[in-house]
Amino acid sequence: MRWTPTRGETMEGAVRPEVDEEACILCGQCVRACSFEVMKLRKRSAQPRGIGECIVCGQCVAVCPQNAISHPAIPDERISGLPATAAVGYDELAALFSQRRSVRRYRDEEVSDELILELIAAAVMAPSGHNQQSWQFIAIKDPDELAAVRDAAAAFYGGLLAALEDPQIRQGMIAEMGEEGVAGLDEIAPAVKLILRAHERGEDRMIWGAPVLLLAHAPASDPTGAESAHYAVGNLMLAAVSKGLGTCAIGFLTVPAGFSPELREALHVPEGQTLHAALALGWPDVTYYRSTGRREAQVRII
Ligand SMILES: Cc1cc2nc3c(=O)[nH]c(=O)nc-3n(C[C@H](O)[C@H](O)[C@H](O)COP(=O)(O)O)c2cc1C
Ligand code: SF4
Ligand code: SF4
Repeated sequence: MRWTPTRGETMEGAVRPEVDEEACILCGQCVRACSFEVMKLRKRSAQPRGIGECIVCGQCVAVCPQNAISHPAIPDERISGLPATAAVGYDELAALFSQRRSVRRYRDEEVSDELILELIAAAVMAPSGHNQQSWQFIAIKDPDELAAVRDAAAAFYGGLLAALEDPQIRQGMIAEMGEEGVAGLDEIAPAVKLILRAHERGEDRMIWGAPVLLLAHAPASDPTGAESAHYAVGNLMLAAVSKGLGTCAIGFLTVPAGFSPELREALHVPEGQTLHAALALGWPDVTYYRSTGRREAQVRII
């Protein structure tokens, strides 16, 4: 199954907010909030009469104490009231962060479409470059489709291992990628071999038997598509924890998707799009009693 949530409205359509003149008290908050020179104070009310281009960021709507601004590109039902202070305290949030694990054991239990859509609703709260919200998501649940993904990945990596072991092809790879690039591939080769052997035995060490493979992709033409998609997926991973679900980022699939047309096809990534994340998603079949800890962060405050 595949979702491509469109924004339902485009930047080209209704691109400017509307102000209820009667309600406006000329406080100027929307003008301050609009960093794109769209909102201006006029005699009777604020108006979207500036020279800038509205990026539909919604900040003017969000800061108006009178609720006097609406935006045709942001339906009312997508806007909610906010508490005056942070909705979750740091300690609570930090606990949630440390509860997220890369889950590699899943119960054989369905994740409903509704739940997946709820996670995606959390994902799209993320910031995005120029508010493009260019991320798109695919949730692969069909077991045959998941098997096709694993087969395509196995074929790609099988070819890669064979290439590394063929002296002539190896030389060609060194010429193309440099010694370091090929050394990097040599480093992952033993782990890849284990995964492929497991695949031959019918064991899933790629998606870890998860019932869902969730993908995030964005147009290759969006220079901030990768970063935005990653923020969205970060949200999604934490939302999954809040629902008792587990995830695991599967770089084993994202990296080769850029090279293997067969894998791209199996993943249903459309032409002109770049895959930025692949996540195993499901109900954890493991109980964590404590967090795993992290190395001390390397920080420079300059
Ligand atoms: C990858 C990326 C790059 C961004 N670059 C800028 C930037 O250079 N300047 C800026 O003012 N906002 C930048 N933003 C913020 C976006 O404009 C903002 O996320 C978007 O308008 C949505 O608003 P929100 O974050 O308040 O939900 C960036 C966001 C992302 C994810
Ligand atoms: S939606 Fe954002 S860019 Fe558009 S007018 Fe409001 S504050 Fe300015
Ligand atoms: S924030 Fe609202 S009340 Fe204040 S100037 Fe803008 S439209 Fe008027």
